[in-house]
Amino acid sequence: MGRNKSRLVVLSGAGISAESGLGTFRDKGGLWDQYDINEVATPEAWERNPELVLDFYNKRRELVIKAEPNPAHLALAELEKHYDVNIVTQNIDDLHERAGSKNILHLHGEILKAQCSYDPTEVIDINGAHLKLGDLSSNGYQLRPHVVWFGEPVPLMFDAEKIVSEADIFVVVGTSLNVYPAANLLYTCKKFCKKYIVDLNELSNVKFNNLTQFQGKATERVPELVDELIKNPIIPTTL
Ligand code: OAD
Repeated sequence: MGRNKSRLVVLSGAGISAESGLGTFRDKGGLWDQYDINEVATPEAWERNPELVLDFYNKRRELVIKAEPNPAHLALAELEKHYDVNIVTQNIDDLHERAGSKNILHLHGEILKAQCSYDPTEVIDINGAHLKLGDLSSNGYQLRPHVVWFGEPVPLMFDAEKIVSEADIFVVVGTSLNVYPAANLLYTCKKFCKKYIVDLNELSNVKFNNLTQFQGKATERVPELVDELIKNPIIPTTL
């Protein structure tokens, strides 16, 4: 017997949370215009100036706590009634969770958690609290933000590849696809997997036969795509 629900995987990036008030990284005036990656988001930065790194992520956490899920997050949560949905997000915010999505993999970590700077598998919830120098893990090491920095391995990449390789439908929302290995996930899909990209800009370097681009704001175009996927369901593929 076949599956009755198609497997739909979403890869989301900063653009889905932009209209919730969280800035993107590479758009004009984005975070990487305001900060030097090498000073706040690398293991070397952490060794050189941990206080600056903690301060940068404490600010990110404050903004995330204040932000609310928007209609794009909410529409993706709604899809779970009709599809077997997995969200693979590059975002460290918890807006997919608060919108009600259930299966969420955070490829680049979670800002509401901290990890031991010696043993990265020791992860704790800190919710809204600021991290300070002197905040220690249970084995006595400094706690750091539970985020993946440039130059570090992406521990959940293998799990993400497995999820994407089983998708019947792959929806990419609000990512410039500039950061690897996350951007490779587009090439991990099955041959007949239907692909959609929702983004403010046309991503002209991505060309597949069964790819449809929805250009525009995530809060408008994601609900439209979701409506279409609910009205005209895509049946599971076997290849
Ligand atoms: P980027 O800032 O690189 O890309 C944001 C994308 O969102 C762009 O393609 C924009 O066109 C699009 N966008 C902006 N506003 C939008 C809106 N309202 N509706 C729809 N699309 C919109 O962010 P990411 O691709 O997520 O990693 O960046 C990937 C990774 O780079 C991040 O996870 C982070 C960053 O450095 C780490 O820090 C490890």
